[in-house]
Amino acid sequence: MSNFGPDYVRAIAPYQGGKPIAEVAREFGLDEAAIVKLASNENPLGIPQSSQHAMQQAFADLARYPDSNGFDLKAAITKKFDVPSDWITLGNGSNDILELAARALVQPGQSVVYSQYSFAVYPLATQAVGARAIVVPAKNFGHDLEAMVDSIASDTKLIFVANPNNPTGTFVEGEKIAAMLKRIPSNVVVVLDEAYTEYLPANLHYDALAWVRQYPNLIVSRTFSKAYGLAGLRVGFGIAHPELTDLLNRIRQPFNVNSLAQAAAVAALNDDEYLHESAKLNADGYRQMTDAFTKMGIEFVPSHGNFVLFRAGDDDGAGGRVNLELLKKGVIVRPVGNYGLPQWLRVSIGLPHENEVFLKALRSVLA
Ligand SMILES: Cc1ncc(COP(=O)(O)O)c(C=O)c1O
Repeated sequence: MSNFGPDYVRAIAPYQGGKPIAEVAREFGLDEAAIVKLASNENPLGIPQSSQHAMQQAFADLARYPDSNGFDLKAAITKKFDVPSDWITLGNGSNDILELAARALVQPGQSVVYSQYSFAVYPLATQAVGARAIVVPAKNFGHDLEAMVDSIASDTKLIFVANPNNPTGTFVEGEKIAAMLKRIPSNVVVVLDEAYTEYLPANLHYDALAWVRQYPNLIVSRTFSKAYGLAGLRVGFGIAHPELTDLLNRIRQPFNVNSLAQAAAVAALNDDEYLHESAKLNADGYRQMTDAFTKMGIEFVPSHGNFVLFRAGDDDGAGGRVNLELLKKGVIVRPVGNYGLPQWLRVSIGLPHENEVFLKALRSVLA
């Protein structure tokens, strides 16, 4: 380990993503075409046709820099969500929004609150600015919002809440979030990370954008990586009051969202059919997965995302062991030992035949 840079940067454990298909093929001597990757909560439908068309049209202009203000994309977001463009921050994925919030709002030594078992980028963004993490114990694998508010310290500047949460898939109802927002001091900013919100059934919908209008200390983040099927393009956005949006935009890289991503995202936003199909495929796949888990006697955490956390075994080696056996069979899922869940694995919902390949491999590994 070098001595360069601050201690808090050297202390960061690198982000562990899902293994790429090509890497697993190389490591295990497998045919890439036969590998099923259910490790990164990607959309199994592939990129929307509408986005493909839009990107083909955008190709001709690729010698030029992207529109740094993302005029067309912001206009499409304004139209769909009824928020003015000076309330919108575009991000290189919604990860970018999470990091911008930490960089814009938190100084070294100040604190950031998030839940145990919540998204891995919250600790990364916190550590990268030299802040102190206040990690609040989860309740039934999900956010304990009351305890999170109670844990706010005098130097707390930011709270991350993922709803639904990754990797657990847990969800807190709108009323509980509304009650939490009422209790948050006005000098503490809440990032409500809604990366999976498009998968929620109608009866669980709540209006986060109404809260954004009400609370100048709230940022809602959304992504095109999941239900919109554009993970590889890296595009997401944050919505917040103009004062907060202005701060985020001051430290944003001017060209953080590339031209193809902007064009594809505009098309995807307007593609209701694709979004509907994504949600339906996911709901059906979720039933397929969880029915099979129940039959196999496998414990799982009920999920509201496009993935399921399931128990691979009772000892702390179980997640790693079952993961390795699945990899040998060409199935990539996500170990979650780095989240403090070494007995568990997370599997993304794929196409019906991909889910079946995974379930068959799992049956044989656990037999
Ligand atoms: C809860 C949550 N937030 C944010 C993200 C970031 O996604 P992206 O940067 O692709 O928008 C993810 C991705 O897995 C996630 O699970």
